[in-house]
Amino acid sequence: MKLFIDSANPKEVKEMWELGIIDGVTTNPTLATKAGIEYKKAVEEILETVDGDISLEVLATETAGMVHEGRQLANLHHNVVVKLPTTGDGLKALQILTDEEIRVNMTLVFSANQALLVAKLGAYIVSPFVGRLDDIGQSGIDLIHEIRQIYNNYDYETRILFASVRSPLHVKEAALAGCEIATCPFDVLQKLVKHPLTDKGLKTFLEDFKESKQKPLV
Ligand code: E4P
Repeated sequence: MKLFIDSANPKEVKEMWELGIIDGVTTNPTLATKAGIEYKKAVEEILETVDGDISLEVLATETAGMVHEGRQLANLHHNVVVKLPTTGDGLKALQILTDEEIRVNMTLVFSANQALLVAKLGAYIVSPFVGRLDDIGQSGIDLIHEIRQIYNNYDYETRILFASVRSPLHVKEAALAGCEIATCPFDVLQKLVKHPLTDKGLKTFLEDFKESKQKPLV
């Protein structure tokens, strides 16, 4: 499964890219504002750092505007995947951009039928927002299982990106459910690496060796 970082902070992106555990990025202006960073500058830096899919979201809400903006975003770099909201206008823009061989990530997906439609129309990625469903007491992971089954039934090639990740448990659920991608905030990626028993085990191992007065092999 691919891991993306959901961030607009170039430092976070660089750290995880250098660690070697991420394959791409999802980002948006809201994340930049939250981080107190200029969005345009941040995207430029991220494009220079990461050689993988980088989803950039359009701001327009009508088809013509989405298509115009989508083309411009795709022209920024060959790694750009254009992110469109899953609305009627978004579906029309998806078809136009896909016909032009521009890769599209359909976002803000909250139902299996939305996922079915975007796959029929050739989306490169579908982004179901699991955490936001969980937040309102609905099961995000149930949605993921439904989408996986529908895509398997019809051999749709659209990649399922588990979005709105809140915890390491979500990442495990994404992998168990057969998602192609999970996009994670920086802190969740950090938590994937760490386990208290790993730290404790390493400390004990080094202390034991010191006490043993053995010579190291090399
Ligand atoms: C990904 O493309 C989305 O921006 C992200 O996963 C949304 O996460 P949130 O629900 O934490 O805002």
